[in-house]
Amino acid sequence: MSKALDGVRILDFTHVQSGPTCTQLLAWFGADVIKVERAGEGDATRGQLRDVPDADSLYFTMLNHNKRSITLDTKKPAGKEVLETLIKQCDVMVENFAPGALERMGFGWERIQELNPRMIVASVKGFGPGPYEDCKVYENVAQCAGGSASTTGFDDGPPLVTGAQIGDSGTGLHLALGIVTALYQRTMTGRGQKVLTAMQDAVLNLCRVKLRDQQRLERTGVMEEYPQFTSGAKFGDAVPRAGNASGGGQPGWILKCKGWETDPNAYIYFIAQAPVWAPICRVIGREEWITDPDYATPRARLPRLMSIFATVEEWTKTMTKFEAMDVLNKFDIPCGPILSMKEIAEEPSLRATGTVVEVDHPVRGKYLTVGNPIKMSDSPTDVTRSPLLGEHTEEVLAQLGYSAEKIAALREDRVI
Ligand SMILES: CC(C)(COP(=O)(O)OP(=O)(O)OC[C@H]1O[C@@H](n2cnc3c(N)ncnc32)[C@H](O)[C@@H]1OP(=O)(O)O)[C@@H](O)C(=O)NCCC(=O)NCCS
Repeated sequence: MSKALDGVRILDFTHVQSGPTCTQLLAWFGADVIKVERAGEGDATRGQLRDVPDADSLYFTMLNHNKRSITLDTKKPAGKEVLETLIKQCDVMVENFAPGALERMGFGWERIQELNPRMIVASVKGFGPGPYEDCKVYENVAQCAGGSASTTGFDDGPPLVTGAQIGDSGTGLHLALGIVTALYQRTMTGRGQKVLTAMQDAVLNLCRVKLRDQQRLERTGVMEEYPQFTSGAKFGDAVPRAGNASGGGQPGWILKCKGWETDPNAYIYFIAQAPVWAPICRVIGREEWITDPDYATPRARLPRLMSIFATVEEWTKTMTKFEAMDVLNKFDIPCGPILSMKEIAEEPSLRATGTVVEVDHPVRGKYLTVGNPIKMSDSPTDVTRSPLLGEHTEEVLAQLGYSAEKIAALREDRVI
């Protein structure tokens, strides 16, 4: 079956996580992604957090499926020549070098336009134009600068970063959307364009509800769905950390389930959704709350939420998170188990949908990865292993028109 991005050729100048997540998605949609890596070393993540000696790390393999790898020293004149040829023959260049690195290499926007006016140049940077635009940035810096850390955690604790890589993978996802949008616009204008996603901006976009709350706080001085309202704590002038409260209008919290004393993930997320208040009361054995004026309406419940959750928890503690799920789902009460990575890795339904995939690798053997979370009926994803360093150098150079002799000479001169 054909793929959505068949015929699109990507010059993948990305490394670490943010850029590679973007180009991996494009590869899954069918683009020919040519990853250009430094001769001899390659993407630094190949060797980071290694679990199998001398094998590409899971960090690298899980971010670079379905790509081809070529090695090229773009600081040598002959390497620059190969890069020029690549630029002429590709549709998109994706890069996430430190600010200014591409220009120092001699490939700023103007030069790329001269070589190929149809080329889309897509970049991840830590910050957009402004006081921090020259800074190097990694995941957690973006989480802190984008508003995530200040709004994550508990009120009496320090700011917290999350396990979700919203700074890196979140930015890669935003960039991928910018690229396909630019490709679409190019079909009408015939021109390429610059696509920039700053990690701070991508994180802030994902923290949109917290900027909403900042303005609500400034207008009203309180936010009733925050645990601070229930506990009577004072609100300051900035959005506080809300613990496990839900970000929307339906109050929720994480509750203990059977086994919580020894299992760190024996918990369930429970939402006291207003339309199912009566079934909630029946399930936990507090039928009197259905009509009690102190509990009968969402407004009346607001100042009592934490004690309500404590009562529900007495009930959830009597069963496992999966048993609680079964009972609550029968009554359409929104809830979700806290799943460990072990449980996710072993979950058959995620294997069946291709969201968790087993891949075979010639050096490391079989490993699990996260497949394409975006499922398309006319462009299915087949996850294939990440390339070895420079595995496709000869193949790609031959496709670009280089003769076997020329390729041998480039190798001799350590350009590739
Ligand atoms: C991630 C980051 C902090 C890593 O920094 P770093 O390891 O020092 O790497 P840089 O991006 O600065 O690149 C290092 C050098 O390698 C050079 N290089 C890269 N590929 C090359 C190649 N194939 N041949 C020759 N040189 C190459 C670059 O030209 C650059 O040289 P310069 O500093 O002399 O200009 C930085 O790239 C960054 O801030 N990127 C943007 C934000 C981002 O994506 N962060 C998230 C990462 S998950």
